Amino acid sequence: MGLLWRCVRPALFVLPPERAHALALCALKMGLVRGVNSGRLMGDPRLQIRLGSLEFSNPLGLAAGFDKNGEVAGALLRLGFGHVEIGTLTPLPQRGNQTPRLFRLTQDRALINRMGFNNEGHGALLRRLKPDNKKNSSKGGIVGLNIGVNKDSLDRLADYTKAITVFYDRVDYFTLNVSSPNTPGLRDLQMRDNLDELLRQLQTTRAALRSDYRFRVPIFLKIAPDLNEVQLDDIASVVLERECDGLVISNTTLARGGLVSGYARESGGLSGRPLFERATVVLAKMRLRLGKKAPIIGVGGIDDGQSALEKIRAGADLIQLYSAMIYHGPALAGQILRAMTDSCTRDGVKHISDYRDQHVEKWACQLL
Ligand SMILES: Cc1cc2nc3c(=O)[nH]c(=O)nc-3n(C[C@H](O)[C@H](O)[C@H](O)COP(=O)(O)O)c2cc1C
Repeated sequence: MGLLWRCVRPALFVLPPERAHALALCALKMGLVRGVNSGRLMGDPRLQIRLGSLEFSNPLGLAAGFDKNGEVAGALLRLGFGHVEIGTLTPLPQRGNQTPRLFRLTQDRALINRMGFNNEGHGALLRRLKPDNKKNSSKGGIVGLNIGVNKDSLDRLADYTKAITVFYDRVDYFTLNVSSPNTPGLRDLQMRDNLDELLRQLQTTRAALRSDYRFRVPIFLKIAPDLNEVQLDDIASVVLERECDGLVISNTTLARGGLVSGYARESGGLSGRPLFERATVVLAKMRLRLGKKAPIIGVGGIDDGQSALEKIRAGADLIQLYSAMIYHGPALAGQILRAMTDSCTRDGVKHISDYRDQHVEKWACQLL
């Protein structure tokens, strides 16, 4: 942990978590936040990853929820992240749940949130993102858009279709969020028939957009960690049948257990260190089901170089984090990239992807 962050963090942690987050976004907007020496590491060819048409300067991304309205993606990429997933965005602006709705479980290095998709809606992001936002050179990395549904939407599938149509020429990939625990009924979209219908409709929508624009934008699916083996089978078979480009594993968990912090009883999704194991088991189980070719983005509990590498060893092509940024600050991305390149050098590994799947069996055999 850097000296500056060691001074700033106690001041931020005196504030309610949402207020501290708003302040952090402000500082990012004003260019007051810097990472450490990430520029050189971002150019290291051992970390570069190509997934289909997308070229990532490194495997580490910032997970959805940090920059819900796409206000600071460029500043976050400059901290060292190879990609930033903005959103979750819903068609109409939405206030989300009543506050307080975000809790720091400091001793557990975790967060519980029940934000409920608070965001400014399609209109605000549309004004912010220009069509040429897709050009990597102008923004310094990959920007994905995580999409969801309004709480009182009468046609949830249409909410996803709308987002893909509206932002097709403005983002590098889409993630369908069917796994937030804070929108009632959303997780039901992970059930076999519902998911099949959703992906079938989006396949048709994208085929039409692809022929208009003459490029194909990948669509990923973000799933929950609270799934059983049968549900994982169902999701894997639908993903392989329909044109889904990969999975983001995972969202926050409803599970509790082993927590020591006072806020452990708050309702909502748990993220951070206590999620690592559960999310990594689901990731490895999915890797075995999908085979070697399907891209998987591993998320949940990554907070240093070792946990980042272990996600890749469990089967991830790319990785993301959120909660650890709250505890470790803006230098974290650079620190993780440095740890990755150091590991490559130490182990005589030519490319970061050579670590992938090394521990997949070990993780996949654990019970859910
Ligand atoms: C405050 C907060 C808000 C979040 N909002 C979203 C969201 O809008 N959409 C989404 O897909 N995931 C959201 N997430 C989940 C994260 O993207 C991520 O999947 C999860 O936190 C696990 O990663 P972590 O342990 O590194 O935090 C949110 C997480 C937190 C802590």
